[in-house]
Amino acid sequence: MSAWDAVRTAVLPERVGEVSQIRGLSVQVRGLECAIGDVITIGADVDAEVVATGDEGVRCMPLGPVAGLTVGTEARARGGALRVPTGTGLLGRVLDGLGRPIDGKGPIPGPQVSLDHEPPSIMERDRIAVPLPLGVRALDTLTSVGRGQRVGLFAGSGVGKSSLLSMIARGTEAEVTVIALVGERGREVREFIEDDLGPEGLARSVVVVSTSDQPAMARIRAAFTATRIAEAFRDEGAHAILMMDSLTRVAMAQREIGLSAGEPPATRGYPPSTFSMLAGLLERAGTDRAGSVTGIYTVLVDGDDHNEPIADAVRSILDGHVVLDRALALSGHHPAIDVLGSVSRVAGKVTSPEQRAAAATLRAVLAARRRANDLIDIGAYQSGADTRIDAAIANEKAISGFLTQRLDETSPIEQSWRRLTDLVAAFGDLS
Ligand SMILES: Nc1ncnc2c1ncn2[C@@H]1O[C@H](COP(=O)(O)OP(=O)(O)OP(=O)(O)O)[C@@H](O)[C@H]1O
Ligand SMILES: [Mg+2]
Repeated sequence: MSAWDAVRTAVLPERVGEVSQIRGLSVQVRGLECAIGDVITIGADVDAEVVATGDEGVRCMPLGPVAGLTVGTEARARGGALRVPTGTGLLGRVLDGLGRPIDGKGPIPGPQVSLDHEPPSIMERDRIAVPLPLGVRALDTLTSVGRGQRVGLFAGSGVGKSSLLSMIARGTEAEVTVIALVGERGREVREFIEDDLGPEGLARSVVVVSTSDQPAMARIRAAFTATRIAEAFRDEGAHAILMMDSLTRVAMAQREIGLSAGEPPATRGYPPSTFSMLAGLLERAGTDRAGSVTGIYTVLVDGDDHNEPIADAVRSILDGHVVLDRALALSGHHPAIDVLGSVSRVAGKVTSPEQRAAAATLRAVLAARRRANDLIDIGAYQSGADTRIDAAIANEKAISGFLTQRLDETSPIEQSWRRLTDLVAAFGDLS
């Protein structure tokens, strides 16, 4: 808010409106003049965001529980859109979806900014050219991620998405980590913060939480609040990493809102606004002149169906996807990354030719091994028939040692590349 706006707000008499209708997820308020995106407070403390205006007043979506509201309940304009705290005072803190602290450590010092922000303009976007070490061997070498890239982690439930995120949060060389936990169960959130992230992980992170019992609008806001906080770090020149668990739950919240507002269910129950919201959200990560936001988003693939609409839409927007495989997880192979099904579209820009060659060799050996799986299983494979398959069999232990990583183990990127180089050297001549 500008100084002039602040003065004007202070001298104008406060306008009070009242609830005229409550239907589905939305609340209609008459007697207030508000713009789309403004926040109003209904009754004592229920914040709501304006999503439509008309002759009948404004229609808004509550950001908190609505129990107890009735027609006639008073509503007050808050004078503008939602604002969120920014800056290094946020490190180690846990916020709700609206940017308010919920960790009992007191108020957050530092400037507040409006939740809205333009994505970096196409011409100002720096190209992705610098690797961002994540501390996970299989990712750093075989699906190399660059600063400002947007990557999806695709998996069915319980295959290890959240665990992999926590490994990255503890192992990454990014300066700041912003983590949005959207639509999770409350118990999982505590476990994630206390056990998976741990005190050292939390100290250089900001966690934004909106659990599954929160209103749909609050869950969506959590995704945007976390994104805005990461952007503010980028504007200060930092290289931040933004992790969202899960993007699917954000999409589900938008589905609730779209359907409740009367939108038609288009693709498997998802109204069109879901897809435009996702595109707008993901577009905000990236590089600009000062710094970068690297986005890592988990995507739940329902019943391990990798073609479900959200997974499909998100895959086409992102610059890379990492697939976790249930069969690998069940066999105790963690993180359960399906190397051959995963791809980073910028890997070629953030690696040296030698590094790319080593990664390609390991991929070729894994691919040959996979093709020959059936033959090997029934004992019909004849050693000597294919040098790549022979290398895979001879080095089976070393390969799985390279690809697996304990939850509490961080692998510095130089060490990961050295291990990969040694591994492919042991394959010998594959021509
Ligand atoms: N690197 C690892 N080392 C050992 N075990 C792991 C590792 N990664 C995941 N696991 C195991 O997999 C289990 C499920 O992982 P996680 O909760 O991360 O899955 P998820 O995909 O986030 O599930 P949901 O869809 O329910 O959110 C964990 O409880 C853990 O035991
Ligand atoms: Mg999870």
